[in-house]
Amino acid sequence: MRVAVVGATGAVGSTMLGVMRERGFPAEEVIPFASERSVGRTIAYSERPAGASVRSPGDTDLTVVALSQDGIEGFDLALFSAGSATSKEWAPRFADAGAVVVDNSSQWRMHEDVPLVVAEVNADALHDHRGIVANPNCTTMQTVIALKPILDAAGIERVVMSTYQAVSGTGQRAVDELHRQAEAVIEAHELPAPAVYPHQIAFNVLPQVETFKDGDDYTTEERKCMRETRKILGREDIGVSATCARVPVYTGHSVSANVQTREPLSPDECRELLARAPGVVVVDDPGDALYPTAIDVAGRDDVLVGRIRRDPSHERCLNLWIVGDNLRKGAATNAVQVAELLNVRGLLRAARA
Ligand SMILES: NC(=O)c1ccc[n+]([C@@H]2O[C@H](COP(=O)([O-])OP(=O)(O)OC[C@H]3O[C@@H](n4cnc5c(N)ncnc54)[C@H](OP(=O)(O)O)[C@@H]3O)[C@@H](O)[C@H]2O)c1
Repeated sequence: MRVAVVGATGAVGSTMLGVMRERGFPAEEVIPFASERSVGRTIAYSERPAGASVRSPGDTDLTVVALSQDGIEGFDLALFSAGSATSKEWAPRFADAGAVVVDNSSQWRMHEDVPLVVAEVNADALHDHRGIVANPNCTTMQTVIALKPILDAAGIERVVMSTYQAVSGTGQRAVDELHRQAEAVIEAHELPAPAVYPHQIAFNVLPQVETFKDGDDYTTEERKCMRETRKILGREDIGVSATCARVPVYTGHSVSANVQTREPLSPDECRELLARAPGVVVVDDPGDALYPTAIDVAGRDDVLVGRIRRDPSHERCLNLWIVGDNLRKGAATNAVQVAELLNVRGLLRAARA
């Protein structure tokens, strides 16, 4: 299989390359694409953990190339993580040239001809693809993985989500900004002016993730959480309300979800359901300070769920604390799982021809 990775130098793209190697993804050739700025740069296609300095025998160096019409022919699969503008222009071109695109940006997620797929939740939607498959928003991804078993067992009327999102969700520049600001605060230097976020992020919490569009009083991230949750679960009748906050954490988004079910569901029943659910690990012994934290989940593919408890204000409401690695299960791992499913189910264009 010939695979293009578009945005290969970025936070998600480099994680996708690592996840492909870890999972033994059956690619015969991988071509990394990025912007003109990175052309000629070599990047490791390696099984080593990120940051390891010792090379393994299986390591390969890949040379980054720029996008061009001539350069996109002959791919079976294209994994995109280069932002919405690049996906808007280039995903249809790759699809027309014969590849199936798995896109991490928000460009195609709500398009009615594009399946929005979480591997553990709605893999069958892949069968309707027309050349582009969308990977959901990271916060939505980890939340629906916990919601799906609850929906199947007891139905869901309404979900109220409050998120605490890591800076790596914005990309590498935001990670650098938090680092520089934290260093300045600790060393009592003058703080560099915020460039990525509208306010200082170090030692602060910002009730704004992404932007407010056209006078809307919800942010674009909050709108994504609300719309994408319904599309992935295939239930337009579920009420969803979201408040998204950015916190000074490098990796790992945390979500507090208040879930109102249709049928009664006890916290114990919910714990049992989630313990059996694919992709979920229940960590829930609060008396012993056992609950999921962002640091626990960084580098893992499972979504961790804890603090499962009855909402004292409503007999059919439960509260859950859901934590996921935004770069791995929230983006790269799911994209690679979707690619694996396309391959094994014979849904790559070449296999279908
Ligand atoms: N970070 C997350 O947790 C997360 C989660 C889910 C989805 N996403 C989505 O994934 C996408 C990438 O996010 P990221 O965090 O990886 O961003 P990032 O670290 O800023 O990386 C962006 C990548 O896109 C490339 N790129 C930019 N402009 C390009 C162009 N005109 N042509 C070709 N390549 C171009 C960059 O190449 P250069 O290095 O050459 O600039 C880089 O490889 C975004 O759409 C984001 O919304 C991110």
